[in-house]
Amino acid sequence: MNLVIATTPLGGIGKNNQLPWKTPLQGDLPRFKQLTSNKTVVMGHNTWKSIGSKPLPNRNNVVISSTLKTPDAKVFKSIGEFLKEYFDYADVFLIGGANLVSQLTPYITQVYLTTSHTIHECDTFLNLEFLKPFQLLETHHFPDHQFSIYKKP
Ligand SMILES: NC(=O)c1ccc[n+]([C@@H]2O[C@H](COP(=O)([O-])OP(=O)(O)OC[C@H]3O[C@@H](n4cnc5c(N)ncnc54)[C@H](OP(=O)(O)O)[C@@H]3O)[C@@H](O)[C@H]2O)c1
Repeated sequence: MNLVIATTPLGGIGKNNQLPWKTPLQGDLPRFKQLTSNKTVVMGHNTWKSIGSKPLPNRNNVVISSTLKTPDAKVFKSIGEFLKEYFDYADVFLIGGANLVSQLTPYITQVYLTTSHTIHECDTFLNLEFLKPFQLLETHHFPDHQFSIYKKP
């Protein structure tokens, strides 16, 4: 499966169950939309809450949660149940948060990583060591961030 995530230089991804930055990173949201439209997006319960507990439009929204009940997304009570149904990982985009990424790392084959140039205060972090087995394919530079694509060889 793919991972799409935006971090600070230190791997921070969230603060108070929101994104760490107040101003959106320029061009990051349209790119996120382009990458994930008409695809399956899978997220943890906290991330679902952080997007307003509403599905992202034009996407198959999947939430992993032992507690959530909603008609607005497909909810799986465990990672195992999710993996059983989504055996075709290629078109699945994991969109966070850190808790879910840490559990699904072995299944991630491609990473679309946005890295802000600025350090923001965070309470939720990715351990960027997970990128070690990946090969960097390309990096694009923007005024407030860089965007890189990694693939597992
Ligand atoms: N910068 C970015 O690109 C980005 C992207 C996404 C999110 N974020 C940020 O990241 C933060 C949220 O991340 P997070 O790590 O706190 O949470 P998360 O991964 O989004 O969600 C964690 C929750 O998912 C459920 N869950 C996780 N593993 C499970 C399992 N194996 N079985 C059943 N349920 C499971 C649990 O909810 P239940 O208690 O309901 O079971 C758990 O509390 C927010 O600040 C958000 O804004 C940032």
